[in-house]
Amino acid sequence: MFDEEHSADAVAASFAATPDPRLREILTALVRHAHAFVKDVGLTGEEWAAGIRFLTETGQHCDATRQEFILLSDVLGVSMLVETIGNRSVGGSTESTVEGPFHLVASPPRALGESIAVVADGEPCLVTGSVVDTGGRPVAGARIDVWQADADGFYDVQRPQTVPQQNLRGLFTADGDGRFWFRTIVPRFYPIPTDGPVGELLGATARHPYRAAHIHVEVSAPGVRTLTTHLFVDGSPYLDSDAVFGVKESLVRVFETTDDIALAERYQMPNPFRRVDFPIVVRPEGSSVGSG
Ligand code: BEZ
Ligand code: FE
Repeated sequence: MFDEEHSADAVAASFAATPDPRLREILTALVRHAHAFVKDVGLTGEEWAAGIRFLTETGQHCDATRQEFILLSDVLGVSMLVETIGNRSVGGSTESTVEGPFHLVASPPRALGESIAVVADGEPCLVTGSVVDTGGRPVAGARIDVWQADADGFYDVQRPQTVPQQNLRGLFTADGDGRFWFRTIVPRFYPIPTDGPVGELLGATARHPYRAAHIHVEVSAPGVRTLTTHLFVDGSPYLDSDAVFGVKESLVRVFETTDDIALAERYQMPNPFRRVDFPIVVRPEGSSVGSG
């Protein structure tokens, strides 16, 4: 029977015959945590109704290009927790972080050295890097997919009227030594979308909506686990208070100001320019998750 003291037991028991054991485990734990939460804060009927209203509006703000529930999970740190548990660093592998909602369009394949900045407003920047596996072997032909915000803090998909759709996106193929390089501009920090319920939540809790400046990097190759990560700009505002908790110290790099005419000529950069190197270590497919 259902009573206040045994409420979670009563509901958990209703799931006892769930054929899928993992589903049973998850639902049982969810009910136990939810009931403990309600008791813990002494949730009132009005507060529960406000919560239901908030979640309803969150769903109503979702469509093919907007996912307010993921954004909610992001600002609550749940996206990062799931990502971090599922992709623990093993054998020195590069740490992962959230993919985010702006990988909406496929990045155009580009030749090594090409610029991803179709609209080149901003500080010119050379990105170099290498992809090796945890055994130190170069991953020849690795695919490096990159996308980033512009110098004003916008992705191309946020300004479709004024910016070409593949601005600041590129899909590169590493050379035979696992090396890659491309030209871009230094990205700026930017706010996550605040015109929905998640924005209201941030406002009500006196939280800012900003993400520290970063370049998204996704690395894939046959035989290795796909790595989804960011390259953060050292010195960017919000590194210590990223709105979605996406910053990991190992991913923050100095984008050095470089004055080197020979190097500039070699990579077709204006001189001086900013420069960053991002050595990437990927895990072999099927390698154990590790216990953290
Ligand atoms: C992004 O980095 O693109 C992002 C991640 C989470 C929420 C919003 C944006
Ligand atoms: Fe981003």
